[in-house]
Amino acid sequence: MEIKPNTLEWPDAYKLLIGSVLPRPIAFVSTCDEDGNTNLAPFSFFTGICADPLLVCFAPMISSADGEKKDTLINIEKTKEFVINVVSEEFVQQMNDTAIEYEPGIDEFQEAGFTKQDSTTVRPPRVKESKVHLECELHELLHFGDQPGAGSLVIGKVRLVNVQDDLYVDGRIDTEKLNPIGRMAGPTYTKAIAKTFQLQRKQGKA
Ligand SMILES: Cc1cc2nc3c(=O)[nH]c(=O)nc-3n(C[C@H](O)[C@H](O)[C@H](O)COP(=O)(O)O)c2cc1C
Repeated sequence: MEIKPNTLEWPDAYKLLIGSVLPRPIAFVSTCDEDGNTNLAPFSFFTGICADPLLVCFAPMISSADGEKKDTLINIEKTKEFVINVVSEEFVQQMNDTAIEYEPGIDEFQEAGFTKQDSTTVRPPRVKESKVHLECELHELLHFGDQPGAGSLVIGKVRLVNVQDDLYVDGRIDTEKLNPIGRMAGPTYTKAIAKTFQLQRKQGKA
């Protein structure tokens, strides 16, 4: 079967995208508006880019509900700061509750029962329940249209990585203790730990 995405309605192209690019890690992004009101939402179009500078990116799409930019993006455009909180299995249900598209100004921390913890280098708070936090300043923002189906790419420069002490072993993050989860297509998630296997990289140019 060969499918040209430009022959599809965007929701059908979207289904191909989430069915092809998986499992996806989840950036649980906390932001503030200009008055300091907090916002929290998950984004699975998320990846790292490079280590020096330490850059990460995620992609908020235009809201299909109202055709507007999502609150996370609006806040980042205004305040240029955000925190990526890594999602562990222990609070995946609560994380899901923050994905309800609330009115701007509604605090998803409160709605979903998360605890705010002061960040060290940015104004948006960390999610205390997360074991790893990436405090970011906006590095670059790219837009790919303004209609439902379109989206933006937020590139963040990591100012500070906060790792729960017991997870930081010999300069690495202990994946088992982190116990991250990944997003598949639709409502399906995957546990990272139960299904892992080892594959040594062959020698050669990096
Ligand atoms: C696990 C998960 C991953 C998500 N990933 C994305 C994503 O990559 N891009 C996106 O636009 N929305 C994504 N969403 C939906 C947003 O979280 C949702 O629209 C949210 O209400 C946006 O909040 P905001 O308006 O406060 O920014 C995801 C939802 C869940 C539950």
